[in-house]
Amino acid sequence: MSVSSSAAQTYRITALAGDGIGPEIMQVGRAVLDAVAAQMGFSLQWQEGLIGGAAYEATGDPLPPETLKMAQESDAVYLAAVGDLKYDTLPRQKRPEQALLGLRAGLGLFANLRPVKIFPQLVQASSLKPEVVAGIDLVVVRELTGGIYFGQPRGIFVDAQGSRRGVNTMAYSEAEVDRIARVAFELARKRRRKLCSVDKANVLEVSQLWRERVTAIAAEYPDVELSHLYVDNAAMQLVRWPKQFDVILTENLFGDILSDEAAMLTGSIGMLPSASLGATGPGLYEPVHGSAPDIAGQDKANPIAQVLSGAMLLRYSLDQPQAADRIEQAVEAVLAQGYRTADIYSEGMTLVGCREMGEKILAALAQLPAS
Ligand code: IPM
Ligand code: MG
Repeated sequence: MSVSSSAAQTYRITALAGDGIGPEIMQVGRAVLDAVAAQMGFSLQWQEGLIGGAAYEATGDPLPPETLKMAQESDAVYLAAVGDLKYDTLPRQKRPEQALLGLRAGLGLFANLRPVKIFPQLVQASSLKPEVVAGIDLVVVRELTGGIYFGQPRGIFVDAQGSRRGVNTMAYSEAEVDRIARVAFELARKRRRKLCSVDKANVLEVSQLWRERVTAIAAEYPDVELSHLYVDNAAMQLVRWPKQFDVILTENLFGDILSDEAAMLTGSIGMLPSASLGATGPGLYEPVHGSAPDIAGQDKANPIAQVLSGAMLLRYSLDQPQAADRIEQAVEAVLAQGYRTADIYSEGMTLVGCREMGEKILAALAQLPAS
């Protein structure tokens, strides 16, 4: 045994399994994180919180105050998924999705990073031509605590004639634009130094301000090449020639839409992780996909996005980049061995369920050379 004077590092992680396939994929994600921690000589102290429909059933609140507090007091938050069709008729404040928005606001998570990378083994799984998608490696940086998701006024109002009017407001302050722009420029600097800011400045004042501020911040990053696209054009360019993108910076609603579109380029949204970060405090890590209630409890879900979200947690919140690399290598190894969940299955591959996919990833992890 090597001589070490410092006690093994322990991190406190809040696990929020949520609804639908959440508990199944969370189980796999946690097992993989614990395994890599053991290999790398640190440990994870898990605390479990209620969220989403599960929390609503138990407490009447999709984000109980205890859950938010637990999250605030941890080193990182590891979330699976929330939501189920059966909650669609609840008032907005009680819906499971509200828990996500509450967590984002409560933890100040203004920067959402959604890397979109295609594994060479899955090029065939995309609905686009292999030559269009092979080699895709981009990140959507989505502003997450502003814009139309949070702007005031909002609501359904009754006018003088007695007819109802639904209102939401897309608003950004200069400071909100500046801080997310800096996150995106910093990230671009660590990648291929290309940043494309997406807005609707030909129509919206909020976008005009957005574009003006992003252009101003660009002066701090002369080494990064900045371009601008209108959101409709960006949606088109993403399916026309996605490899033109390195970092895409955009506001909350545009980012919601474009990140689903970008995710699908890779064949399955079941592969993509995300990180949500604030200026300080714990980050939140979750798959881009939702709770998939149609396959919940059937051992069919793809746990890979959850597992890769764990890798992002290690990289961004725990500063354990080697451990993160190992997880990504293990996933790649399992894909190379031909194991596929149903969502990424193609002929000649070996179909596995959620649990077995987890076992294969653990086995691949165990076989990686010590680092
Ligand atoms: C996402 C989701 C959420 C969003 C929903 C579930 C509130 O679609 O994380 O992209 O719109 O932000
Ligand atoms: Mg979305």
